[in-house]
Amino acid sequence: MFGKRSGDDLANTRKIAKNNEAADAGNKAATGSQTGVSAVKKAPVEKVEQPVAEVQPARQRSEEFYDIKSSVFNALIDTIDLTQLAKLDADSARDEIRDIVGEIIQLKNVVMSIAEQEELLEDICNDVLGYGPLEPLLARDDIADIMVNGSQTTFIEVDGKVQQTGVRFADNAQLMNICQRIVTQVGRRVDESSPICDARLPDGSRVNVIAPPLAIDGPALTIRKFKKDRLTLDQLVDFGSITPAGRTILGIIGRCRCNILISGGTGSGKTTLLNCLTGYIDTDERVITCEDSAELQLQQPHVVRLETRPPNIEGEGEITMRELVKNCLRMRPERIIVGEVRGPEAFDLLQAMNTGHDGSMGTLHSNSPREAISRLESMIMMGGFSLPPRTIREMITGSIDIIVQASRLRDGSRKITHVTEVVGMEGDVVTLQDIFLYDIQGEDEDGKLLGNHRSTGIARPRFWDRAQYYGDHHKLAEALASAEMSDANGNPLGE
Ligand SMILES: Nc1ncnc2c1ncn2[C@@H]1O[C@H](COP(=O)(O)OP(=O)(O)OP(=O)(O)O)[C@@H](O)[C@H]1O
Ligand SMILES: [Mg+2]
Repeated sequence: MFGKRSGDDLANTRKIAKNNEAADAGNKAATGSQTGVSAVKKAPVEKVEQPVAEVQPARQRSEEFYDIKSSVFNALIDTIDLTQLAKLDADSARDEIRDIVGEIIQLKNVVMSIAEQEELLEDICNDVLGYGPLEPLLARDDIADIMVNGSQTTFIEVDGKVQQTGVRFADNAQLMNICQRIVTQVGRRVDESSPICDARLPDGSRVNVIAPPLAIDGPALTIRKFKKDRLTLDQLVDFGSITPAGRTILGIIGRCRCNILISGGTGSGKTTLLNCLTGYIDTDERVITCEDSAELQLQQPHVVRLETRPPNIEGEGEITMRELVKNCLRMRPERIIVGEVRGPEAFDLLQAMNTGHDGSMGTLHSNSPREAISRLESMIMMGGFSLPPRTIREMITGSIDIIVQASRLRDGSRKITHVTEVVGMEGDVVTLQDIFLYDIQGEDEDGKLLGNHRSTGIARPRFWDRAQYYGDHHKLAEALASAEMSDANGNPLGE
């Protein structure tokens, strides 16, 4: 056993043990000290203290559990050589850590059930090899967002509902350490002098970190989990986000090269919808995507993916979305897809839409199609273009064909609530025409919202000619007619 061995024995038997330091760690472990290895090194073992109190089941995650964990963790870190550990593959590293932790627990006389030991071990492996307490959340595919508000509070979003979890970090330093580990992997940095950072996990999940002093109660980490299997419009039909007729209409809009703006609140499903619509792009079209953090998963063979770059530590080297969109135009694109329009690039995207790049698409944060128009207008005005408002509006009506509105409703469900056409101008006002809508009609006893998707009775939308050009006009007429009076499953009402 660990404590009965000499330091040399331990160092010899462990591939990853630090030379001669293992003995110290063993000594430290034998003291039952919870204050760190260096203290033990200064004052070698004389007596064995009382065993650490029995841990609570880790599910309840008592203070004692965290104390024991940090004391075992410290002993482990002092025992192993992290550079050697890094050379092992994940399974061997896990086995090695498992053995050493088992021995440390025995030496510390920690009374734990096998299940508790397993939990402790899993936690420690996650801390050393991965993203610590985040690992179990990252492993779950049903989570949409992970929101860590300082070391003690973590929320997740599952099935549209935000819920608090029992996940917590030892302290803000551990959380900050994990944040740094995440962002350094993509060559970025987060600390007090540079406290805001966007990054991406190796699996593609989008990450934002904001650290103290800006985040008052400790680092705030937000992760939009990347869905391995991208959602399709068929799945959105299964979820009730749209009806089969609505899916057909969206498919035609995507295919027949309408210029589309997807509008919606944060987390409402804009990127998902954009992804779905890109599925209808012909495989022989050259598509260029511009994103702040690459999230889109286009399936076409002829795609160029571009990503913006934040400034470096000296504040240099930034490449903005506007520069990307402008550069796109020199790359012979057939369609330009902008992940999220949030600034002056709106002008360049509209120009591209206006000048032969039909079928371009983008998303924008706003709560209704009408608001999306005024958001676009103010983005262009704030970009320093000295154009009269009427000219900007004319440009918008000349470029955007369709606005699709995505919403996350108060029961957590996500719906496509509007498919709206930009028709033209009446005086100084942009005129819009809804062709497909979602009406909320009530609420059931579980608080789930009830409603209908329906078409508004417009039999010949403005993009009819386009649909005809692509041979989809019969399908369009059929979908519009069947959606006129249908319930959430696409069945005609009154049957
Ligand atoms: N119709 C839907 N039904 C169920 N889940 C959905 C639906 N649409 C999107 N989601 C899920 O909701 C989460 C947020 O979606 P998405 O990233 O598309 O939102 P967003 O509006 O682009 O968010 P943000 O504003 O942060 O960019 C994702 O996990 C996604 O899988
Ligand atoms: Mg998005």
